[in-house]
Amino acid sequence: MLVDLVVVAFWAMLPAYVPNNAAVLAGGGAPIDGGRTMGGRRLLGDGKTWRGTAIGTLAGVLLALGLNVLAPVVVRVTGFEVPVFPLAAAFGLAFGAMLGDIAASFLKRRTGRERGAPFPGVDQLDFVAGALACAAVLDFGWFQTTFTLPVLGVVIVLTPVLHVLTNVIAYVLGLKDEPY
Ligand code: CTP
Ligand code: MG
Repeated sequence: MLVDLVVVAFWAMLPAYVPNNAAVLAGGGAPIDGGRTMGGRRLLGDGKTWRGTAIGTLAGVLLALGLNVLAPVVVRVTGFEVPVFPLAAAFGLAFGAMLGDIAASFLKRRTGRERGAPFPGVDQLDFVAGALACAAVLDFGWFQTTFTLPVLGVVIVLTPVLHVLTNVIAYVLGLKDEPY
């Protein structure tokens, strides 16, 4: 059923959704690129910091461990077969989400986009690509059983919608400078 797919997709991606939002709250401090430039433009820019990346990753991993505690209860009470996250998968999803976002900033700078400039499509899916790729590399068995093709399809449709929604909320709350 579609609702089962949506619940599983959302649950499985939560450790990848949280890091970017945690980074927005925790960001600041030294930029990863140390101010270095390439072709006259910043390598990544001031929006990608060590602190944001570390705390974002940690937040995603901790959330996954918390979800693991809840999972048996959710399965028993609701019948939704939500996945449990092995540590490698949890780390892959969280760190991969941050890496995907960092890779997108690299691309943005190379294409002349300033910090904070929108890059439609890339902004909404960069962290999904990073999270799925890293989780697959770190625990392919888990990745394969969790992200079946229908679940992947839901993730790719659902994520941009959630991303736009949460960013608009963060913008309205004054946590983010742009609503995307
Ligand atoms: N952030 C961070 N470290 C990261 C990712 C995000 O510190 N690895 C923080 C920064 O304070 C950043 C904010 O979260 O400004 C919002 O993230 P994002 O929208 O990804 O960055 P932008 O500032 O928009 O920069 P870019 O154009 O490179 O995406
Ligand atoms: Mg941005």
